[in-house]
Amino acid sequence: FAAPGTFLNAPERFAPHLPRRHASAHKGTFGTLAVVGGASGMMGAPILAARAALYAGSGKIHVAFLGPDFPPYDPPHPELMLGEFDALALERMSAIAIGCGMGSGDLAHRALLRVLALDIAKVVDADALNGIAQHADAATRLREHATHAVLTPHPLEAARLLGTDVANIERDRVRSARTLATRFGTTVVLKGSGTVIASGDARRVAINPTGNAGLATGGSGDTLGGMIGALLAQRMPAFEAACAGVFLHGRAADALTEEGQGPAGLTAGELAPAFRRLFNTM
Ligand code: APR
Ligand code: MG
Repeated sequence: FAAPGTFLNAPERFAPHLPRRHASAHKGTFGTLAVVGGASGMMGAPILAARAALYAGSGKIHVAFLGPDFPPYDPPHPELMLGEFDALALERMSAIAIGCGMGSGDLAHRALLRVLALDIAKVVDADALNGIAQHADAATRLREHATHAVLTPHPLEAARLLGTDVANIERDRVRSARTLATRFGTTVVLKGSGTVIASGDARRVAINPTGNAGLATGGSGDTLGGMIGALLAQRMPAFEAACAGVFLHGRAADALTEEGQGPAGLTAGELAPAFRRLFNTM
């Protein structure tokens, strides 16, 4: 790779920062994550993210829904605490993942401004990114509280954030990720084949070698957001959490594919237990 500071993402880059379980650990040691999203008709996205966070080791997980019609609990995972956004004490969270299935109404905008005002580690994905592209006040707030934030745009979301088109983003993905990192001062994960991770100062850029076209399935981005959120909740630094999350999410897809569970028909939900197995054997 020509550009200085650019390297191939690999376990030795992030492994020293992975959370370890000491014998005296209790669940508070592993943080509390809030997944914020789920407007009416889009309840599945934050649930997928929250399930992924559970398998990635977060101590406690809340799902804070923006829509009124959320389920009382997640039957396969009653460990998750589901509730309405306004009822959750956000300032008590160790990390927040915002955006999956969040929608774009007034409520989404208000929730976005509230979350972005907090100096808490956060993953900003999907509709939260679209909200930042659309509303100058949200973009300003992100810049003011950028430390420990990870943006996870796919190419179209990146194009909206930079006011350009997808072809322009894809022409030079390293440059696009760097430009976004510099614009907001956050870690940036530019998704797609060969995901690019740029640090908030744009000095470090990792190119990810894992993952395959099996990930081109609805919800695989939501699971990635939940995994990175869980690593942030366990107090991993933002750039390393992003590198670890992207690497292991992709490696999980590769492992499932080797077993014949992909690439065709791989489901986003299956990534979480595969991620857990890799994480525990690193
Ligand atoms: N090779 C490797 N990785 C891939 C490939 C590929 N060919 N295709 C996709 N991926 C990975 C991406 O790198 C990313 O981690 O799969 C994930 C896809 O994430 P998203 O694009 O966010 O997809 P998804 O979760 O389905 O998003 C659903 O969220 O962002 C919104 O507009 C989006 O409404 C949509 C919703
Ligand atoms: Mg997505």
